[in-house]
Amino acid sequence: MADCSCGEAAAAEGGKRQQFGSRFLKDPARVFHHNAWDNVEWSEEQAAAAERKVQENSAQRVCQEKQEDYELNAHKYWNDFYKIHENGFFKDRHWLFTEFPELAPDQNTCHPSEAPECADSEAAPALTAAVQHTGSVGSFGPGTELPPGVDEAAQQLSLLHIGAHEFPGCSATYRILEVGCGVGNTVFPILQTNNDPGLFVYCCDFASRAVELVQTHPEYDPSRCFAFVHDLCDEGQHYPVPEASLDVIVLIFVLSAIVPDKMQQAVGRLARLLRPGGMMLLRDYGRYDMAQLRFKKGQCLSGNFYVRGDGTRVYFFTQDELDALFTAAGLEKVQNLVDRRLQVNRGKQLMMYRVWIQCKYRKPLLSQPS
Ligand SMILES: C[S@@+](CC[C@H](N)C(=O)[O-])C[C@H]1O[C@@H](n2cnc3c(N)ncnc32)[C@H](O)[C@@H]1O
Repeated sequence: MADCSCGEAAAAEGGKRQQFGSRFLKDPARVFHHNAWDNVEWSEEQAAAAERKVQENSAQRVCQEKQEDYELNAHKYWNDFYKIHENGFFKDRHWLFTEFPELAPDQNTCHPSEAPECADSEAAPALTAAVQHTGSVGSFGPGTELPPGVDEAAQQLSLLHIGAHEFPGCSATYRILEVGCGVGNTVFPILQTNNDPGLFVYCCDFASRAVELVQTHPEYDPSRCFAFVHDLCDEGQHYPVPEASLDVIVLIFVLSAIVPDKMQQAVGRLARLLRPGGMMLLRDYGRYDMAQLRFKKGQCLSGNFYVRGDGTRVYFFTQDELDALFTAAGLEKVQNLVDRRLQVNRGKQLMMYRVWIQCKYRKPLLSQPS
């Protein structure tokens, strides 16, 4: 499977991990002096060569019958992946906290809804205070409609009076969900780093072997975490939390694993789980990443969507495509950046051009006038 242990080359300098985008290659002669360089500019020739490579490797598409098998049995292919690799493939993603401080906000600073960029709304502190007081946002059933003219924050406050219903982590004050969690390379770093006593972390994957590995991890603590099997493309399955109950949703190299025509519906369903002011965080493959250029003819399923030798699939996004997916789900852009990184293998003197996209989209505090 193509590597997605990205970011591990984000060097820790002086003991402190640097944010991506802070080490620049000014002198090409020094390329092998570090493991990775940020914001590498692509020459026109390099971009044109990448485009040609993609045209070449997309020329021949996988037959319909096989495409159906990859879709129908997607969970089985990933399950087999975890049966083979167990928890030895992906590395813990410790860079997360530099890129996404929302995962472990300083206990002395405010939650996202109280952050300065949201301070223009008077609804946020009241809502946060109410949610923290009751420890729940009430019974938001799937598909709950907002009555016309009623903003989401106000509706939440009114629903608080309906009464709490029990769900895992219902008494928590800060709830994070990771979708496509694999064996927990994001979840366990969050549990280790964020020591907010009100934190509760949900995580799911449709590969039952991956979820089993999370549940049997020595650091899995059911009083702080709930791992469950869930297919984010399956509209018939419900998430075990009410709508508008989550502070943060994390998507790390998972949206790229699903068939493009199901992405919008999956993102929309997730967006409904966010509370007003809550954040969706994503890091995923960008167009012309080295992994895309390495595919051979006959592995392309549809435009920029490929199948690996082990039956797992991967899409390569542009920033605009992700912006369209999140904004159509009613979220607003906080960040949408491309990380063009040059990774080098000093031993083999290899240069690898990586392209990743990182996004933060927030659920508005007040519903937008239609
Ligand atoms: C590339 S791995 C990334 C794993 C993890 N997020 C990480 O960064 O280490 C993609 C993960 O998404 C999961 N996945 C793919 N499609 C899914 C779906 N429709 N529903 C739930 N999980 C899915 C796979 O089983 C796999 O664990």
